[in-house]
Amino acid sequence: MKTALLIALLALASPFAQAGGNAEAGAQKAKPCTVCHGAGFDTPISADIPRLADQYEDYLARALTDYKSGARKNPVMDGQAAALSAQDIQDLAAYISGLPGKLKVIPLHRLVQ
Ligand code: HEC
Repeated sequence: MKTALLIALLALASPFAQAGGNAEAGAQKAKPCTVCHGAGFDTPISADIPRLADQYEDYLARALTDYKSGARKNPVMDGQAAALSAQDIQDLAAYISGLPGKLKVIPLHRLVQ
């Protein structure tokens, strides 16, 4: 019992805790994005558009939040992110991060030594 409680508290305190997005809702909201990022978010239509499948969920949410706020600027993505709510962003990040992809990211165990 105490162990379970400790694990729950650690999960809450972890910077890698789940952000609370709904992947199923994200799948619906992601349809317009695939025009550029490709079906499955792993086959972008040109070299200047990033692969997103299998990217970290918190990275995706941060990128979209920064485009929306203006902290990160891009003529294409500013407009895409402007209409998204905070919940839309969490849902999209949950969906896209769960897709299989060829993107290479640093494994978590190497970041948290
Ligand atoms: C018209 C083409 C287009 C559409 C539609 C589009 N994107 Fe993008 N996206 C881009 C381009 C181009 C970039 C690279 C921008 C940059 O360099 O900052 C990008 C970058 C991103 C990034 C940052 C990736 C990184 O590695 O930092 C995210 C996240 C993202 N898009 C998500 C989305 C989502 C979610 C949608 C749908 C709501 C969407 N995009 C719709 C073209 C598009």
